[in-house]
Amino acid sequence: MMGVLRRDLFALPPGIYLDGNSLGVMPHAAREAVLRRLSEWQRDAVGGWDAWFGLAESLSPGIGRLVGAHPHEVIATGSITANLHSLLATLYRPAGQRRHLVATALDFPSDVYALQSWAARHGAEVRLIPSRDGHTLHEDDIAAALGDDVALALLPTVLYRSGQLLDVPGVTRLAHERGILVGWDAAHSIGSVPHALHDAGADFAVWCHYKYVNAGPGAPGGLFLHERHHGLGPGLRGWWGHDKATQFEMAHEFRPAAGAGAYQLGTPPILALAALEGALSVFGAVDLAEIRARSLELTSQLMALVDEHLPELRVVTPRDPAQRGGHVALAHPEARALSLALRARGIVPDFRQPDILRLAPVALYNTAAEIEETVRALRELLDTGAHRALEGAGLVT
Ligand SMILES: Cc1ncc(COP(=O)(O)O)c(C=O)c1O
Repeated sequence: MMGVLRRDLFALPPGIYLDGNSLGVMPHAAREAVLRRLSEWQRDAVGGWDAWFGLAESLSPGIGRLVGAHPHEVIATGSITANLHSLLATLYRPAGQRRHLVATALDFPSDVYALQSWAARHGAEVRLIPSRDGHTLHEDDIAAALGDDVALALLPTVLYRSGQLLDVPGVTRLAHERGILVGWDAAHSIGSVPHALHDAGADFAVWCHYKYVNAGPGAPGGLFLHERHHGLGPGLRGWWGHDKATQFEMAHEFRPAAGAGAYQLGTPPILALAALEGALSVFGAVDLAEIRARSLELTSQLMALVDEHLPELRVVTPRDPAQRGGHVALAHPEARALSLALRARGIVPDFRQPDILRLAPVALYNTAAEIEETVRALRELLDTGAHRALEGAGLVT
């Protein structure tokens, strides 16, 4: 097997791209797959459905490998938010005292909004696990939140700001010991950190494919539902979740597909799935453990260089590799202006309110030399103060 630095497989934009934790760069294979599907549409029109009908299901082996699940436990569909609603509609069954939902104070807002919607319907609370330092979660606080009146907990595998990686098997075990269902938002780990969701016994998980999986802006998301829950049938039904063999009989009696495919709702976006199809082919050619090893090497290098040359920037990502995802978060009061100034120099980081500069050296396409150059550019900005001229300028992402 070749190494995991595969810049040849990507259409890299000019400059240095360190924002793969927000939107991964385009694999050539994604473009080729979209063009292939476009040609099918042009040539076959509605006849193209013969090839497209099972496209989402055909991607499940590749996706299952990324999250450590059987193919029938995962499906590419929807968005994180929509999939979360769909899984909550299925699994969240408040009963008596055991009715509350747990999330974290550091969650991406959409996850909390989804939980709030369901809590409101059932007169329950969404309890947020607090953070002691504003960046990370402490295992004792997670344990303390998992009380006997909690029905379901949703946690991020990797926190979107700080990059802290939580102990997925450990927290899952603890929640189950206490009779709590547990789901994971794996948006910031899939494609960067290998998972074993099936063996960990996680009840469900959701993620997107537009970050480290490189399937393009707004790519269809993904979900995992452990096979022990497949008998429940989807809480939200749609015709695309019907058993494929009889879907076109158009009966009003809903017969769900056997596995996670039952959680599809409407007609899938074939062109967007094609980009995912191409993007997944990249992962078919690499070893996930090697991706993780190289990612940890790059983030270690970055943190060491920041410590040595940029003492004004505070690393808020855990140093322990077992608690670190694929990106490094640096706190600085001028993080926003620094982010803009780096972009103006062709280096793409991102900024998260209020003071976090995120840098994601991606194992598949970033190099040690790019990290060195980025640290040099930051040193120069801090020395000259050139970034301050950009303080008031706009920034969308
Ligand atoms: C951790 C996390 N959760 C949820 C979302 C929302 O995802 P979607 O827009 O696919 O619903 C994002 C988006 O970036 C995210 O980073």
